Amino acid sequence: MGVLKRYRDLLPIDDKTPDVNLEEGSTPLIEFKRIGAELGIKLFGKFEGCNPSGSFKDRGMVLAVAKALEEGKKALICASTGNTSASAAAYAAHMGVPCFVLLPAGKVAMGKLAQALMYGATVIAVNGNFDKALELARAASQGENSILAMVNSVNKYRLIGQRTGAWEICETLGNAPDWHAIPVGNAGNISAYWAGYNEYLKLNKINKLPRMMGFQAEGAAPLVTNQPCPNPETVATAIRIGNPVSAHLARAAVQESQGEFNSVTDDEILAAQKILAARGGVFAEPASCAPLAGLIKLKNQNKLPSGITVTMVLTGNGLKDSNTALASLEADNKAKPIEIGDTQEELMAVLNSKL
Ligand SMILES: Cc1ncc(COP(=O)(O)O)c(C=O)c1O
Repeated sequence: MGVLKRYRDLLPIDDKTPDVNLEEGSTPLIEFKRIGAELGIKLFGKFEGCNPSGSFKDRGMVLAVAKALEEGKKALICASTGNTSASAAAYAAHMGVPCFVLLPAGKVAMGKLAQALMYGATVIAVNGNFDKALELARAASQGENSILAMVNSVNKYRLIGQRTGAWEICETLGNAPDWHAIPVGNAGNISAYWAGYNEYLKLNKINKLPRMMGFQAEGAAPLVTNQPCPNPETVATAIRIGNPVSAHLARAAVQESQGEFNSVTDDEILAAQKILAARGGVFAEPASCAPLAGLIKLKNQNKLPSGITVTMVLTGNGLKDSNTALASLEADNKAKPIEIGDTQEELMAVLNSKL
């Protein structure tokens, strides 16, 4: 069941709201026992890569698109580091409305670009970074009579829809986790999760709140350094953002929850991506692995309390950016299959060398 149906009573929708549904949400909360044991914690990952367009964006997009159509908008526009465009394009295709996506030229993972193009969006590559693309898209959609709905996370319905991730975690665990670890780019998702946990506390569905632990890439860490970052750079292109739109909300979430922002290097992100895949069985995109990289770092600094329950949001599917994964395996000489002839002996030689 999609999130509009599952959370009908908690979302701002009624009988006038068009029924938009790609069966998003209800993603698995996976316990990583091997990795958790190494870190001395109970570690869970909410695998948002299982959403229909392969990222958490679908939770908010479904609501934003439903409300845009309810308000009479005729087309969607967004700026994106990739996943928002894939999600917007998917819902636009499903509902039969045009979609325009602005991407930073040359800085979007191939899988995400392929998605937006396949779903039939008009894809515009901006020769500037994400922040510039956002400015252009915003200006294009301004004006009361605009038929364009801006579906970036500045659209309030996106963040409301994204609260559903927190609600699902609480329902699966029976309470909030001790720590909620999440990658931070434009800072919408951390703000949405915090609002979601608070709403569930008010409704007495949980009896505690988690510490919100936000992780940024070192080359794009304005919330860690407390300064805008004019030229963000990181292998985790989804969080390559220098001036987060929801910075104020994210700061409040971290402050109110006694959480923290921390940064991790690209090498730490790529190492965590391999650990998550090879010891956890989940292939998530680089940005999604910033929290695990951060937890490992905190463990090494003796700052990770043992025995706590931690949820990480694995925000996007690793298949979206297989080029980055293969390049990082290349460095370990592990990017290619072992090639053999067609004999049983050759196969047995390989099996025996590995067992
Ligand atoms: C895979 C992935 N992880 C994390 C983020 C960061 O989310 P937010 O911009 O809401 O902080 C994004 C945003 O594009 C993303 O695509």
